[in-house]
Amino acid sequence: MSPIIWDVGHIAHFEELWLTQNLDGPIEFSEMPGLYNPFEHPRATRASLALPSLSQMTARLEEIRTRVLDRLETVEFDDRNPLLRDAYVYHMVLQHEYQHNETILQTLQLKKGEPFHAPRARTFATRQSVRSDMVSFPGGRVTIGTDDRSAAYDNERPRHHVDLRPFLIDRDPVTNGRYLEFIADGGYQRADLWSEGGRRWLAESGATAPKYWTRDGDSWISRTMDLTRAVHPARPVCHVCYYEAEAFARWEGKRLPTEFEWEAAASWDPASRQARTYPWGNAKADSQLANIDQLSFDTAPIGTFDQNVSPIGCHGMIGDVWEWTSSDFHGYPGFQSFPYKEYSEEFFGSDYKVLRGGSWATRSGAIRNTFRNWDYLIRRQIFSGFRCARDA
Ligand code: AVJ
Ligand code: FE
Repeated sequence: MSPIIWDVGHIAHFEELWLTQNLDGPIEFSEMPGLYNPFEHPRATRASLALPSLSQMTARLEEIRTRVLDRLETVEFDDRNPLLRDAYVYHMVLQHEYQHNETILQTLQLKKGEPFHAPRARTFATRQSVRSDMVSFPGGRVTIGTDDRSAAYDNERPRHHVDLRPFLIDRDPVTNGRYLEFIADGGYQRADLWSEGGRRWLAESGATAPKYWTRDGDSWISRTMDLTRAVHPARPVCHVCYYEAEAFARWEGKRLPTEFEWEAAASWDPASRQARTYPWGNAKADSQLANIDQLSFDTAPIGTFDQNVSPIGCHGMIGDVWEWTSSDFHGYPGFQSFPYKEYSEEFFGSDYKVLRGGSWATRSGAIRNTFRNWDYLIRRQIFSGFRCARDA
């Protein structure tokens, strides 16, 4: 991870680049040269950079933001400039900051010894169910992605048709309770459940449970930020990598959904043959509808958000945990990089798997049914869980 001060500087300078420089002249850079360029300075090297103090950085951020907000007073969202049309570049910069907000929380959660004191979090009523039913998707032609050019990222476009076979998908994300059964059944010891990459990861990591879990006699405890307590059976499992999700799915006689199946299960209404922007409809996401926006500092027991239901009846697809899918991160047919290659295109290929749906640490402005996240298969510090699928 980056030192948090680097994220703050990167947020500020990305904002300066796109909302001042690149609006004034031709696009010269897509990431700012210097200290805050993520490609010049990969994560592993950022701690040794000569970064300013917090007060210097805050002053710099405020100076940039003042200029940006002054300009916003009078800016015209000129249709002829694709950066300004429908305020695209403002949405992009805002979502960029939101995404780094989540990255900062990953860093805080990683801190050992000196854990971050989370603000008093929301609490949720407890339900005990741990095992998910499956709901069925009839199959057929669906639309995936969007043509929106106002807020959507380039990798969500273009909207296109995909033919899906009928499938079943878990109604809820996999819970800690069910995951505990996998552990108790020797899930981490049974080589037959793990793919080749998974076995390699298992040997290298020595993992026996999700990240942040520790054994406490006969049971398990886990830490979220500064709070350590018994693993809660009805909350979605969090901090598992792709390989763990894959092995669990095999143990249950299931598989992970493709990202298209995931999106169809979240968005597609087979009755009206239309896709929704969010599982519940087209109303903007907020913290009443889903466990998002960095307020709960944990996953919520499944079923807590009773409006967070998709047309086919999947619960909790937005919020709680990012959900691993079996899909590699690629451009959709007809993909065009916009406005810069280093956001998406640079990462296309089989090094990354797509995650969907956002977590409790995702800001509401940076999540929707078409939103695609991606990460390395071994990554566990992200707020990641999953649900399973199976052919019908
Ligand atoms: C979409 C979360 C994988 O953090 O690498 C932030 C988002 N891109 N700055 C990342 C992003 C450029 C990106 N992820
Ligand atoms: Fe960034």
